[in-house]
Amino acid sequence: MKKRVFSGVRPTGRLHIGNYLGAIKNYVALQGEFDCVYCVVDLHALTTLEDTALLQSNIREGMLDMLAAGLDPQKAVIFVQSHVPEINELFTLLGMVTPLGWLMRVPTFKEKARMHPQNVNYGLVGYPVMMTADIVLYKADVVPVGEDQLPHLELAREIVRRFNEHFGDTFPEPQARLTTFPMVVGLDGQSKMSKSLNNHIEIAATAEETTKKIMSAVTDPARKLRSDPGHPEVCNVFKLRRHFEPEVIASLDADCRTAKIGCVDCKKSLAAAVNNYFAPLRARRAELAAIPGYVEEVMADGARQARVIACRTMEEVKKKMGLI
Ligand code: TRP
Repeated sequence: MKKRVFSGVRPTGRLHIGNYLGAIKNYVALQGEFDCVYCVVDLHALTTLEDTALLQSNIREGMLDMLAAGLDPQKAVIFVQSHVPEINELFTLLGMVTPLGWLMRVPTFKEKARMHPQNVNYGLVGYPVMMTADIVLYKADVVPVGEDQLPHLELAREIVRRFNEHFGDTFPEPQARLTTFPMVVGLDGQSKMSKSLNNHIEIAATAEETTKKIMSAVTDPARKLRSDPGHPEVCNVFKLRRHFEPEVIASLDADCRTAKIGCVDCKKSLAAAVNNYFAPLRARRAELAAIPGYVEEVMADGARQARVIACRTMEEVKKKMGLI
């Protein structure tokens, strides 16, 4: 039997190159080897309640990107977290075996509490418990995540151990599987690519938008004149080209250091490569978006499949906890 993979994606809307290279591409690759369950975590999004008016369109846009990128409803279960209401039940029950002290120590909680002292809600402190519930509701063995999620995974394992000790062996201890891709830096050349910093490129942007954004990207700050020698190791455009044009990297490194190529030409080439890389995805996305009811159907179908697994787990959990 194949091992089960579970991962959750927050509904932040259209995906950018950082989301794609850091997570989605990996999700697509895992579909053959594992039994994959992928979830858009709308309930988690509510822990930092902002504008819920956008939630539904964010879910749809993110779904279209993921489907166009190759997540395949024939190969993986793809659904929206709140469409499987058993998550709320398991969240409550896992709350009974999770000491508050563990949750208060989680770095992401401390960080969010510091940043939004006026909104330290009960759901926020419970974020990792709900994440654990996501994973174990489907008895997942492997959880592909970025490094920032490791403390959550560690906590999930502790909750699982505690549950298993109290109520008998029920859940596998989930293993994190780190995406090997290094952090994708944004167009500012400074911070991780993110929508909130507006230093991102949406994978489904038009070719014109993509080119315009890339032409505005920061390169090696020491290279003020066209004739100044460049330092590819500090240049984010170089890093992106490594990804999208691996074949030119060796000569590009030399050409940049000797100022044989200028930053403008370098960026033009990157823009062309990015547009070329995402062209099939963009075409596919437009096709899927034009099919009436397609995304809704995928989500409903995914929720149905997910629910079968979830109900089986809940039955077992309730028996073990003395509820039935
Ligand atoms: N916390 C994850 C993030 O911020 C999203 C998430 C929710 C998740 N539930 C999960 C990831 C379960 C892996 C497994 O990206």
